[in-house]
Amino acid sequence: RRVAVVFGGRSSEHGISCVTAAGVLRALDRDRWDVVPVGIALDGRWVLAADDPARWELAGGVLPVVEPGEGPAVLAPRSPVERGLVALDAGDVPRALGEVDVVLPLLHGPFGEDGTLQGMLEMSDTRYVGSGVLASAVSMDKHYAKTVLAAAGVAVGPWALVTDRAWRADREERLDAALAVAEGAGAAVVFVKPCRAGSSMGVTRVVLGEAPGRWREGARAALAAAVEAAREHDPRVLVEAAVAGRELECGVLDGLGGAAPEASVVGEVAVVDGRDFYDFEAKYLDGGAVELTCPADVPEEVAESVRATALRAFDALGCEGLARVDVFVADDGRVVVNEVNTMPGFTPSSMFPRLWEASGLPYPALVDRLLELALE
Ligand code: DAL
Ligand code: MG
Repeated sequence: RRVAVVFGGRSSEHGISCVTAAGVLRALDRDRWDVVPVGIALDGRWVLAADDPARWELAGGVLPVVEPGEGPAVLAPRSPVERGLVALDAGDVPRALGEVDVVLPLLHGPFGEDGTLQGMLEMSDTRYVGSGVLASAVSMDKHYAKTVLAAAGVAVGPWALVTDRAWRADREERLDAALAVAEGAGAAVVFVKPCRAGSSMGVTRVVLGEAPGRWREGARAALAAAVEAAREHDPRVLVEAAVAGRELECGVLDGLGGAAPEASVVGEVAVVDGRDFYDFEAKYLDGGAVELTCPADVPEEVAESVRATALRAFDALGCEGLARVDVFVADDGRVVVNEVNTMPGFTPSSMFPRLWEASGLPYPALVDRLLELALE
């Protein structure tokens, strides 16, 4: 069967998506899958890309980029009545692409993981891996994800939303609201994030003071600067009170044949080497800055509680296929969901595949399972 592996994309996580594609292109069993690699350039152009894992690997600390002229232009799909992938221009490209049985959207961030691509695939009756339009859109937006999770009784950390309109109308009022959230949560540290981004792009950790409510001089200005930095990525921003505790992650996979979703073992992210938090550099470029431990060295009841929370979050958001649920286990033992990624980082050394490997599902079998799920 034919699978279109779609990667790159218009978001700031373009390069991560390419590295993920390298892993998947290498892992796909070519006896079973006829692979059509499709790269989306940063300008939004879709091109038939090299079916060569080496082209998409992280090399010398430089993330790969899909060039707009990488290969023949394609668009998928051209109209709701034309199924599958069709070429923009005539010639031999349509035959090269043909119809595909399933699309594997290995895209992170806006225009890929946020329901936009999923909507396009729904319109054309094209099967695809992962969550549908609504779950993708809600999970991508940290404000709405928290709102839905909280309504479903899944614990999330306190936050303040800073919309574009509110920030323009009265930024002092929004800064007050954010400071009040921190104080109310007993936090002296906040994370300021774009609502819709990933890989810690545009995220700033702000130390407001020594103790909640006793803000240092300049705390307000630092908070305002962090909001501006996040606004570079998204006009909608959120300010989260930091949760003191451990950072754990859990993978969720839908069951085949309508079986219930399963949770993987639990992994832990620990930032070593003097970094403030699990930022972009630590995630991808500085191999020594972070320690991913899988399975995490936590008591079985903690792991069980994280797994149960991950399954509830998956269900509450209406996710399908796969997700990685990131949580904090607070010092007082509470499990608090940080975020849900509907297309988590998927390089062979990323947490999601490692969680499944440690749960008995090796990387190639995991990719296969996702495709089988989409084809059911
Ligand atoms: N957004 C990145 C890819 C992740 O969650 O793994
Ligand atoms: Mg993320």
